[in-house]
Amino acid sequence: MKVSKPATLQSLFTLGKASLLATVLGFSFGAVAEPVEIKFSHVVAENTPKGQMALKFKELVESRLPGEYKVSVFPNSQLFGDNNELAALLLNDVQLVAPSLSKFERYTKKLQVFDLPFLFEDMDAVDRFQQSEAGQQLLNSMSRKGLVGLGYLHNGMKQFSANNALSLPGDAAGKKFRIMPSDVIAAQFEAVGAIPVKKPFSEVFTLLQTRAIDGQENTWSNIYSKKFYEVQTHITESNHGVLDYMLVTSETFWKSLPKDKREIIKQSMDEAVALGNKLALEKANEDRQLILDSKRVELVTLTPEQRQAWVNAMRPVWSQFEDKIGKDLIEAAESANKP
Ligand code: SIN
Repeated sequence: MKVSKPATLQSLFTLGKASLLATVLGFSFGAVAEPVEIKFSHVVAENTPKGQMALKFKELVESRLPGEYKVSVFPNSQLFGDNNELAALLLNDVQLVAPSLSKFERYTKKLQVFDLPFLFEDMDAVDRFQQSEAGQQLLNSMSRKGLVGLGYLHNGMKQFSANNALSLPGDAAGKKFRIMPSDVIAAQFEAVGAIPVKKPFSEVFTLLQTRAIDGQENTWSNIYSKKFYEVQTHITESNHGVLDYMLVTSETFWKSLPKDKREIIKQSMDEAVALGNKLALEKANEDRQLILDSKRVELVTLTPEQRQAWVNAMRPVWSQFEDKIGKDLIEAAESANKP
């Protein structure tokens, strides 16, 4: 066996001086430039549309720009959570985030359009609106705040879950529901006499488990991947709203990229989003079925009359926010229901 000679104090000292000099001068022996790191932080699990999209983006960028760019993905609020990810983006502590559209209220009121209850009939309508001129303009709605919208990503339609059957609006009265930080969603729950509680996504499971709150609203994929169904007795298949994302970066970071690299990164993102969107549709069905198969929760299926009662109770929220969102924008979104 070959035993390496122990380094003498003198040789270590010489090496130490040399590497210190190299650091000061900004180079190291034989080293090539470090890849630029793009940190992508998100709050959901990896087995979700957003989690998979992020990993695909990493794979594409690193295979197309090998050694030049590296993407580090931080799921499950590991790096930043709901309360600080956008601020961290503006400080360049992270370069890419994809919050739900309900989490931008501090930066623009326009995106509140997505939170209006019973606005979109299905995900096709959501997609048509996002791809329309009005929807694409919303990507620039936070440019004055230094945020660049790079695209939308689907998750799906929201369902209510609770510890009692929510068949009619009155069933929610007096119950506490965790909501995302959106005044529209708060108004939606207040419209049925419920108590909305704004809390980060990372706290929802514990709040439900300890019964600090009675219910929440989310997509099938989030309810499944975060096991909310294990700590709730009922899920009402309400499809009353949408939970989608906007991929955002900071203007400072985006502009710092050379144009050709920026194009490759954007192209990689578009392709990763296409995969995420395909998975979102599949997962909505698959995760719904997995939840039902678990038999840990009872499904409440609304009759047309019951559904209409929820619509009637919540629809007045639209006019409450019309001035802030803009009547034209609400109409543009509504018109996406007609193909
Ligand atoms: C997410 O899907 O990013 C989280 C949604 C939530 O906060 O409920």
